[in-house]
This record gives sequence, C-alpha cells and structure tokens, in this order.
Amino acid sequence: MLGKKVGIDLGTTTTRIIVKGEGMIASEPTAVAIRDGGMQAAVFGEAAFETAAEDPEFQLRRPVAGGAIADSGSARWLVNHAMIRAAGRQRIFKPDVVIAVMSSLPGGQRRSLLEAAALAGARTAYLLDAPLASAMGAGIRLSGPNGHLVVDIGAGKTDIAALALEGTVSGRCLAGHGGMRLHDCVAEHVRQEHGVTVDAATVEELIASLARVGPHEERRLDVMGEGESGEASLTITSTELNACLDAHMRPILAAIDAVIADTPERLMADIKREGILLCGGGAQLEGLDSAIATAMGIEVHRESQPQLCAVRGTGYALDNLDVLKRALMYIR
Ligand SMILES: Nc1ncnc2c1ncn2[C@@H]1O[C@H](COP(=O)(O)OP(=O)(O)OP(=O)(O)O)[C@@H](O)[C@H]1O
Ligand SMILES: [Mg+2]
Repeated sequence: MLGKKVGIDLGTTTTRIIVKGEGMIASEPTAVAIRDGGMQAAVFGEAAFETAAEDPEFQLRRPVAGGAIADSGSARWLVNHAMIRAAGRQRIFKPDVVIAVMSSLPGGQRRSLLEAAALAGARTAYLLDAPLASAMGAGIRLSGPNGHLVVDIGAGKTDIAALALEGTVSGRCLAGHGGMRLHDCVAEHVRQEHGVTVDAATVEELIASLARVGPHEERRLDVMGEGESGEASLTITSTELNACLDAHMRPILAAIDAVIADTPERLMADIKREGILLCGGGAQLEGLDSAIATAMGIEVHRESQPQLCAVRGTGYALDNLDVLKRALMYIR
C-alpha cells in the first residue's frame, strides 16, 4: 500500500479536492478562518465562515484573489487542511500532491505552495498550470505532437493556452479577469442605473438566467434589492447587461487572438480540426461558446461540467507524473 494521491484545484472562489480511487472528496469555498495571526490551527472552507462569524478570535481570510495568492500565510493553511481532509492527520505513507494553479502565478508564490505541501507531509508536491490541468480533465491526451487550444474561465482569472507534447506552446493569462469581475460589473450597473443594491445571490441569478453573449431576444427578470427607502422590487432586462458582457468578452477574445497568433501554423491546423476547448465555471455563460466560435472561425466545445475540468486533470496528472515531469514544477 502506497501513500494517497491527492489533487487540489486551488481556485479563486472554490477549492476542489480529488483523491485517486475515491473521486472528488471536497468542493469548498477557498477560505480559512485563522486565530492568532495563523499560529493556531485554522478552519477551512464553508466552516470558516461560520467559525469567523461565531468566534471573534477568528479572522476570515481568502487566500486567493484574481487567481493569485493574495495571502501566503492563509494559503499555506489551506493547503495543509486540504491535505488533512484528503489523507487524514495520521499517515503511514506520505501522499503525492498535485496542485492546479493559474499559469502566470509568480515563482515565489509557486515555491511557497510547494513548501506548504511539503510541510504538510507530502512525499512529492507538484504544481500544474490550469490550462494543462483543464485539458487533461476534459479527456485530451497531451502525449502526442498534436496541438490543442484551451480556454479556462474561472472566477478570478482567464487562462488560455495552446498545448502540445505535454507542454504549453503559447499562452495568455488574464489575472483578475473572470466571473467575479463580470459579477461586480452587473452589481455596479444595478446600483448606478436603478439606485438599488442587490445581494450576491441575486447577481448570480441575473447572470445565470438573463445574461447572454451575442444577439438575442430581450429577456426580463424581476428581482428584489435594497433601495434608498427600503426594500425595492425592480425589473432588469438582458439588454442592460450588454455593456458588462462586452467588457467581459473583449479582453478574452483579444487574448485568444494573441495565443492563436503565437501558435505555429502546423498546430493551428490541429486546433481548427479539433476545436477550442472551454473549461472553468465561467464557461457556463450563455452564448460565450458561440461568440468565441464566431470570432475565431473555429468550433468550440464546452465541457458539460466545465468547473470540474481542472481538478479532474490533477487526478489524471497524478497517474502520469513521469510523462508530465517537463510540464510540472515540483519538489521531492
Ligand atoms: N451559469 C453561469 N453563467 C455565467 N457564469 C457562471 C455560471 N455559473 C457559474 N459561473 C461563474 O463561474 C465562476 C466560478 O468558476 P470556477 O469555479 O471555475 O472558478 P475558480 O476555479 O474558483 O476560480 P479561478 O479558476 O479563476 O481561480 C464564478 O465567477 C461564477 O460567476
Ligand atoms: Mg479554476
């Protein structure tokens, strides 16, 4: 019996954990509650919100912002707790750990995560860039010479890469540009135009049921919010969201264009045949796939559960560490 194999997708809003042979064992908000500046044990995930709300000795921390490590102390705690969740506190054999991260994550932050995993008892710890993880999680096998193009739109970043031979040929990572920015834009629009503040769940509902990229028949949704003189009901139309959707899409399309321009013609021929792969929770935005297909003149495939591509990819990587060595940063 060997140590467990643990895959962690360290997302801006959600941390997902997979254990080989057990499947996905956790999907928790990327949050920790820390006591005494982190010297005392912390609480991870959904429980962190409750702990921080109930116990004034605990402070809530969000370790990841815009795809990057915003707070390395709490990020270390998060890695520690993810490993405890996956492999327990008492281990006879040390686990192997693969963590999916934003491709433009700076070297210092990478080392800090690897150290955290080593300190938490990993036998080997590897970092895998999100586009590679997403491609593997979507079932693309990267061992051949063929080219692939992956777009991973998360909450805090958009990570685009052309891949071949288990490596990145060209890529663009838009740190800070993802579903959260669209969310903030919509919330701000409602506040500015209607003088009403709506809660986060309402903004999510507006985006999920109203927003559509590209031409469409106008839709309406009645929502409740907080106006100047108390609770207010208002109607929002899909047309109102166009400016936010445009601001969301423009950098993404420009980045895909740039990646394509950097990709050798031979690989582009493969990509045109295979199509562009869309992953990440933000891929669920209605009309996003056809907008990209129209703009690029290349077919687009969206995974059915796009938010799970990256964590599934860490699972695949754990089984193929030898093949993937070239694409990984690791310590052992
Ligand atoms: N139906 C939907 N339409 C549009 N966006 C959606 C929909 N469902 C989820 N999203 C967006 O998906 C995002 C979450 O995606 P995901 O879980 O992949 O992010 P993450 O991995 O935590 O972040 P990142 O990869 O950027 O660090 C949220 O910003 C959310 O708004
Ligand atoms: Mg992600």
